[in-house]
Amino acid sequence: MANHLDHRFCIAPMMEWTDRHCRFFHRLLTRRALIYTEMVTTGAVIHGDRTRLLGHDPAEHPVAFQLGGCEPNALAQSAAIGEDFGYAGINLNVGCPSDRVQEGRFGACLMAEPALVGDCVAAMKAKVRVPVTVKCRIGIDEQDPEAALDALTSSVAQAGVEALIVHARKAWLKGLSPRENRDVPPLDYGRVYRLKAAHPKLPIVLNGGITNVEQAQDHLDRLDGVMMGRAAYQEPWRLLTVDPQLFGAPAPFPDAKAAAAALIPYIERELARGARLHAITRHVLGLFRGVPGARAFRRHLATEAVKPGADAATFRDALALVNTDAPLAHSVAA
Ligand SMILES: Cc1cc2nc3c(=O)[nH]c(=O)nc-3n(C[C@H](O)[C@H](O)[C@H](O)COP(=O)(O)O)c2cc1C
Repeated sequence: MANHLDHRFCIAPMMEWTDRHCRFFHRLLTRRALIYTEMVTTGAVIHGDRTRLLGHDPAEHPVAFQLGGCEPNALAQSAAIGEDFGYAGINLNVGCPSDRVQEGRFGACLMAEPALVGDCVAAMKAKVRVPVTVKCRIGIDEQDPEAALDALTSSVAQAGVEALIVHARKAWLKGLSPRENRDVPPLDYGRVYRLKAAHPKLPIVLNGGITNVEQAQDHLDRLDGVMMGRAAYQEPWRLLTVDPQLFGAPAPFPDAKAAAAALIPYIERELARGARLHAITRHVLGLFRGVPGARAFRRHLATEAVKPGADAATFRDALALVNTDAPLAHSVAA
């Protein structure tokens, strides 16, 4: 099992979004990105339906499994289960601010307990061979981001964390919704650059507000990696340029429509196994944003893919509405 993961370009863990269908689709657009699962809590891993929560297609790889929890033994046990399911890395969530997460005393509120986070990392590392990483904020509430991020980083570095992914803004645990916590607290990229300067040997990955691959490339001059969340999900065509622009490797497909066509065998297979078309195609809606026919494509899928009996032909019909002769049909060369 590989004991190193390339974090140069990562697709963020996003609950309700980066499920296994989404990840399979994203993998058609970039072979090189490191993809993350949605967060799964230790309670769900240990007591829940593991096949549903952890099952995935080997074609998605490399994929890191994100855990939510704060109890070292439960995290170690869950990490081992994740490794057994074949995940290429295990990531601990120290950034999610939702009420449900705060009740469980994990997610972003762990920014206030750096020693415990270090214990969690050490316990997971003792149980798995794959890399263990942490995703955090620069601070929470009234914390000073200089001191808070330093304390967390030192603790997890000492525990042997493989990489630290920093969402470059604070989380406000009281008063802001999770959604507001992704937009309202200001981004502070300088704080993350300073962290890298202070920890030159620790791989540091920047997350937050990166809207295109060119911006990602600029950050890579100073950091080991970038993580893109909403832009990757809402405009997945951007992922087609990741391999050529960031890795000097050919794109998996020459354009977005070819990548979408490659999803059809997967759709057929998954529908035969009982999946609903919409569960897959909802992740594809933004693929042609800005291309003539994109609106008709979205509308067709939004209304038809939810109907009982919707199948691969429904998706093909939607694709036929996109004008690929348009000069900018999200081809790699464009
Ligand atoms: C719908 C949604 C769900 C998210 N779920 C998670 C999650 O499960 N775990 C996590 O660490 N972050 C989660 N996030 C936060 C993202 O991973 C990322 O940190 C955030 O969106 C900022 O990056 P961006 O500006 O590139 O989107 C979620 C974000 C969104 C939009």
